[in-house]
Amino acid sequence: MNLDSLGRSLHDLRISVTDRCNFRCVYCMPKEVFGKDFQFLPPRSLLSFEETTRLAKICISLGVEKLRITGGEPLVRREIEKLIAMLAPLDGLKDLTLTTNGALLGRKAQALKDAGLRRITVSLDSIDDQTFRAMNDVDFPVSQVLEGIEAARAVGLSPIKVNMVVKRGLNEQSIVDMARRFLGSGMILRFIEYMDVGATNGWRLDDVVPAREIVSVIDRELPLEPLEPNYRGEVASRYRYRDGDGEIGVISSVTQPFCASCTRMRLSSEGKLYTCLFATAGHDVRALLRGGSSDEEIASFLVDIWTRRADRYSELRTAATVSLPKVEMSHIGG
Ligand code: GTP
Ligand code: 5AD
Ligand code: SF4
Ligand code: SF4
Repeated sequence: MNLDSLGRSLHDLRISVTDRCNFRCVYCMPKEVFGKDFQFLPPRSLLSFEETTRLAKICISLGVEKLRITGGEPLVRREIEKLIAMLAPLDGLKDLTLTTNGALLGRKAQALKDAGLRRITVSLDSIDDQTFRAMNDVDFPVSQVLEGIEAARAVGLSPIKVNMVVKRGLNEQSIVDMARRFLGSGMILRFIEYMDVGATNGWRLDDVVPAREIVSVIDRELPLEPLEPNYRGEVASRYRYRDGDGEIGVISSVTQPFCASCTRMRLSSEGKLYTCLFATAGHDVRALLRGGSSDEEIASFLVDIWTRRADRYSELRTAATVSLPKVEMSHIGG
């Protein structure tokens, strides 16, 4: 097993397939930055599905068991189901999932399921239409995301997780409504602390609603009790409803960082590897994929990157690190 310099193994690969998105969530792709003049990656610079699959296979040979497809918005990448169909049968892969904003899910759920996707995570920041439209900033209606979620349920993508990023003053009033909406649905709702990812969202500590507060706000209306993690290093802390059917999770990456058990590597759509969500630079693996390197040479490049890894950004966060020119969330996914 290859351990990094803090004793962590490589277990997950998160694959971003595009830096584009059909939303402009105010905390992720603010319109002032990601406007009509913004230069997204040109198609030729994106890894092909064959290149991505080759790299995933090498990662699996090094211990990766879980793949998550992200973006930007992964469902805007043309024929994304073809990539799923290439990844799903890989030997040694135990978990294959995808994070989407749900806008195109109504149209795509069946094709994703048929291609071999097992489960799915949908981002949804409010159940209140007005709040949701203001947060995605493209006036997208909440009803259409709910239809997408329903389509995913109907085709048997399971379990479905719903991710809500909570930002102070923006959607904190939706916390309990979201909990009620998904209570007893069989879906797992997770509340995420707003993070200082990227360099464009103008993050301030005051904008973070701590996980502890989220739990207590829900607990007052819908009593909760903690659950054990499903696996070591699970990002979300789990709770179940005392009086009802279902569970929620809170992801406290700001107030209780989980770097000590971070086993994730991230691949951008142009083929750069990032060993931390808050990295300022990636390692170019596309040059090797396109330059005639053998699988063994690429594997040893990856082992070298991983064994030298010392990232623990969230544990070290200071005013100085917050303003570093970090890679954007829309570039490497969540
Ligand atoms: P499951 O595989 O379903 O358990 O998903 P997960 O718990 O890994 O969570 P998911 O991939 O849905 O990530 C949810 C959110 O957690 C992301 O959007 C990020 O905000 C945050 N997150 C995930 N991984 C990391 C990480 O390595 N570091 C930090 N700081 N935040 C993370
Ligand atoms: N803080 C926390 N989560 C974020 N996401 C995007 N930006 C942030 C941020 N600043 C989440 C999205 C989605 C996932 C891909 O990452 O809402 O659930
Ligand atoms: Fe919103 Fe996700 Fe798109 Fe970012 S990538 S703008 S969080 S939908
Ligand atoms: Fe992993 Fe970096 Fe997130 Fe810490 S801040 S959990 S090292 S990705």
